[in-house]
Amino acid sequence: MGLEDRRAQEPDVYQPAEDSHLLAEAACERLERGDLVLEVGTGSGYVAHQIADETGARVIASDLNPHAVRQARSAGVETVRADLVSPFRDGAFDAVVFNPPYLPTDPENEWDDWMERALSGGEDGRAVIDPFLADVGRVLAPDGSVSLLVSSLTGVDEVVEEAGEHGFSAVAVADESFPFETLTVLELFR
Ligand SMILES: C[S@@+](CC[C@H](N)C(=O)[O-])C[C@H]1O[C@@H](n2cnc3c(N)ncnc32)[C@H](O)[C@@H]1O
Repeated sequence: MGLEDRRAQEPDVYQPAEDSHLLAEAACERLERGDLVLEVGTGSGYVAHQIADETGARVIASDLNPHAVRQARSAGVETVRADLVSPFRDGAFDAVVFNPPYLPTDPENEWDDWMERALSGGEDGRAVIDPFLADVGRVLAPDGSVSLLVSSLTGVDEVVEEAGEHGFSAVAVADESFPFETLTVLELFR
């Protein structure tokens, strides 16, 4: 099934786009067979599926959106419905991967549906990223790392600074520029 058909069939689920591809590629370069990986906010399951397929790592995925959980499961991805990393046990994962909702959104223009949850990062673009950074260290193994996609619209420096507040160093490992934004994959480690 093509992307347009999938969009028509699953209008409430974020379908793979440039950000998904950039994150999947960057994550695949760093992961290997034997790793246990969590993909937060899996949407269609594309990134999780690519990682499992390309690297042989075991990937667990989560999403708040029940439609996304259903689509990811139907793509063969082991998926649970969850808010960020809340249900997962301490120190469980070698890596966590997240393409978060990151678009700054005027509160007056917010719309209350699952696609808004997939896209909107609130007024500053970091309304989901900040709580993620506050808790993700808890579920990482001692030498685990995070691959986080951010946009120039979200403020890469601000995300790096917030990650630093939670004990992470950050390195940009991939980026791609478009007319209105540059997408960057940050690797966070302690
Ligand atoms: C930009 S989409 C990325 C989807 C997919 N990973 C990809 O790259 O194609 C963001 C995803 O995060 C999910 N999400 C938003 N807030 C979340 C939360 N608090 N906990 C878990 N998932 C969340 C959305 O439902 C959406 O599927």
